[in-house]
Amino acid sequence: MKIRVIVLFLYYCYYIGSTSSVSASTGNGKDLSVLLSVKSTLIDPLNFLKDWKLPGNSDHCSWTGVQCNSHGNVEKLDLSGMNLTGKISDSIKQLTSLVSFNVSCNGFESLLPTSLPSLESIDISQNEFSGNLFVFGNESLGLVHLNVSGNNLSGNLTEDLGNLVSLEVLDLRGNFFQGSLPRSFKNLQKLRFFGLSANNLTGELPRVLGELSSLETAILGYNEFKGPIPPEFGNMSSLKYLDLATGDLSGPLPSELGKLKSLETLLLYQNHFTGKIPPEIGNITTLKFLDISQNALSGEIPVEITKLKNLQLLNLMGNKLSGSVPAEISNLAELHTLELWNNTLSGELPSDLGKNSPLEWLDVSTNSFSGEIPSTFL
Ligand SMILES: *[C@@H]1O[C@H](CO)[C@@H](O)[C@H](O)[C@H]1NC(C)=O
Ligand SMILES: *[C@@H]1O[C@H](CO)[C@@H](O)[C@H](O)[C@H]1NC(C)=O
Ligand SMILES: *[C@@H]1O[C@H](CO)[C@@H](O)[C@H](O)[C@H]1NC(C)=O
Ligand SMILES: *[C@@H]1O[C@H](CO)[C@@H](O)[C@H](O)[C@H]1NC(C)=O
Ligand SMILES: *[C@@H]1O[C@H](CO)[C@@H](O)[C@H](O)[C@H]1NC(C)=O
Ligand SMILES: *[C@@H]1O[C@H](CO)[C@@H](O)[C@H](O)[C@H]1NC(C)=O
Ligand SMILES: *[C@@H]1O[C@H](CO)[C@@H](O)[C@H](O)[C@H]1NC(C)=O
Ligand SMILES: *[C@@H]1O[C@H](CO)[C@@H](O)[C@H](O)[C@H]1NC(C)=O
Ligand SMILES: *[C@@H]1O[C@H](CO)[C@@H](O)[C@H](O)[C@H]1NC(C)=O
Ligand SMILES: *[C@@H]1O[C@H](CO)[C@@H](O)[C@H](O)[C@H]1NC(C)=O
Repeated sequence: MKIRVIVLFLYYCYYIGSTSSVSASTGNGKDLSVLLSVKSTLIDPLNFLKDWKLPGNSDHCSWTGVQCNSHGNVEKLDLSGMNLTGKISDSIKQLTSLVSFNVSCNGFESLLPTSLPSLESIDISQNEFSGNLFVFGNESLGLVHLNVSGNNLSGNLTEDLGNLVSLEVLDLRGNFFQGSLPRSFKNLQKLRFFGLSANNLTGELPRVLGELSSLETAILGYNEFKGPIPPEFGNMSSLKYLDLATGDLSGPLPSELGKLKSLETLLLYQNHFTGKIPPEIGNITTLKFLDISQNALSGEIPVEITKLKNLQLLNLMGNKLSGSVPAEISNLAELHTLELWNNTLSGELPSDLGKNSPLEWLDVSTNSFSGEIPSTFL
């Protein structure tokens, strides 16, 4: 599991090159001196910021990674992938027109003491920032994009995150955050992407998360959440991708999941879910990837699952499923992977399996099937 978590967050970091030095006018003197002061505390071993200097180039709007607005004030700073370390100076707060700040993929270690006001986008992903996350007050109301993934941040996630009501992207994956999720997250009504995986979060999944009606992607797995999936999750009507894999979740799968009419991916593997697979799953006709393996689900495979015409992957291995495999499963025209091994299934395998689908991967071992392997696989 540890290896898998690390692989999840092993992004490639490289300098893409700044396309941002277009400026309509020459910049103002205050921002120029602020940038020089910011540079003075950075360690730049590969000399990416060699054009940040006076005399030489006095138009700071043309400096590497700097983009100005039409008044010549610095609007965007993109210092991503430059192997920078050292300290990000507090004087950066004096760039009062700054809306976008990107230092992803560097080697920074100590976080700014507070967030920067007026920013719309903060990307500090893939560094070694440690300590607690910034405290967000109502001066951060305009923040739309926050990516702090792949750092060493820790501590509890605090209620003030719920102040960030403009947020559309919140990526906290791959840190050491702990404690339970603040209920204030329900205020993030514009949130489309919510990434929390590979942290040390605990407690139950708050029911109020079901109120996040704009949410399209929820990646919450690889934590230590316990208890059931709240039935309210069925209210997240925009959800396309739900990952709750690898945790301590338990209880039955709520039939309300069947209300998720846009869901394409449902990953619930490696938890402790019990009870039957709800037949309502068969109502999610958009579903392409269904992985509920390595739980303790029992009963029969509901025939309703064969209504999932777009299904490409069905992984049920490592449960306590019994009975026979519904013959209609061989009509799933998109199915390429079917994993049924390590259950207590019996009866004969549908003889048409693989005839109508691009099935490439079939593992039915360690069950008690009788009869013959379908001819398509011989
Ligand atoms: C940039 O930093 C990475 C990680 O710290 C290191 O592996 C790489 O060699 C550095 N690149 C150069 C050109 O020094
Ligand atoms: C930050 O820079 C990286 C690398 O260039 C890029 O992939 C990423 O999209 C940028 N982040 C934002 C929020 O634009
Ligand atoms: C956050 O940053 C990481 C690493 O830089 C990147 O892979 C990921 O796609 C970003 N998240 C979002 C939602 O853009
Ligand atoms: C921001 O919060 C402070 C105290 O928390 C309050 O005094 C102030 O009125 C708030 N400003 C706005 C614009 O809501
Ligand atoms: C960040 O965490 C990684 C992995 O646990 C560790 O190797 C590294 O030393 C940490 N860096 C800092 C600055 O704490
Ligand atoms: C962090 O959260 C846990 C449980 O959610 C709580 O018991 C603990 O007191 C919190 N710690 C701090 C420092 O707020
Ligand atoms: C956090 O999770 C990682 C891996 O999931 C684990 O190795 C580590 O011991 C956990 N840390 C704490 C403080 O629970
Ligand atoms: C959300 O779901 C729950 C249980 O499934 C239901 O009782 C509740 O009325 C729903 N709330 C909204 C706002 O739709
Ligand atoms: C969902 O599935 C259940 C059981 O398969 C069925 O009784 C119900 O009518 C379906 N609901 C909708 C809205 O399709
Ligand atoms: C089969 O599943 C059981 C739990 O249902 C698990 O304990 C066992 O390790 C699994 N066997 C294999 C070979 O994965």
